[in-house]
Amino acid sequence: MIGVLVSGGGTNLQALLDANLPVVAVASNKRDAPALARAREVPTAAFELADYDGRDERDAAMAEWLAENGVELVVLAGYMQLLTPAFLDRFPDRIVNVHPSLLPAFPGAHPVEDQLAAGVRESGATVHLVDEGIDSGAILAQERVPVLPDDTPETLHERIKSVEHRLLPQVVRELCAR
Ligand code: GRF
Repeated sequence: MIGVLVSGGGTNLQALLDANLPVVAVASNKRDAPALARAREVPTAAFELADYDGRDERDAAMAEWLAENGVELVVLAGYMQLLTPAFLDRFPDRIVNVHPSLLPAFPGAHPVEDQLAAGVRESGATVHLVDEGIDSGAILAQERVPVLPDDTPETLHERIKSVEHRLLPQVVRELCAR
């Protein structure tokens, strides 16, 4: 039973849904995240920081809502906030994230731009366990993606995402089978 956290467009959420994985709840830190519309009949909820006294309170409420919906495994699919222990401790070793670089290289919020600025020839997609750090948990799967000479952030990100859309459902399916 999978819960997915989203902040943006939700193409990775779409890949999980298309793979017929058991997504039972979708939560966002943004009420207007386009990803939420992809959930269709799956229950959704928004947990905006402004509605709570702080990050701990917000994360505790989000974890509670996911647990109430039967979530056992949490997937961060373009979720652009750090999670606090109030959330992490509810799903120990059961939270995964997908990131558009070959971690530990290029963590953070702008990895695609950072890789182009650094002039790397090779990028990639990483699926990893989530801890308190920024994109720092144990790596579960990684795949290389070439950087082409005329790449823009958009063209490179699209190439990486097409790998993410295959890699993430594959890893999540394996975790579900454990
Ligand atoms: C993906 O590239 C993911 O790796 C990163 O944010 C992006 C989310 O894209 N963390 P989407 O919202 O799934 O389309």
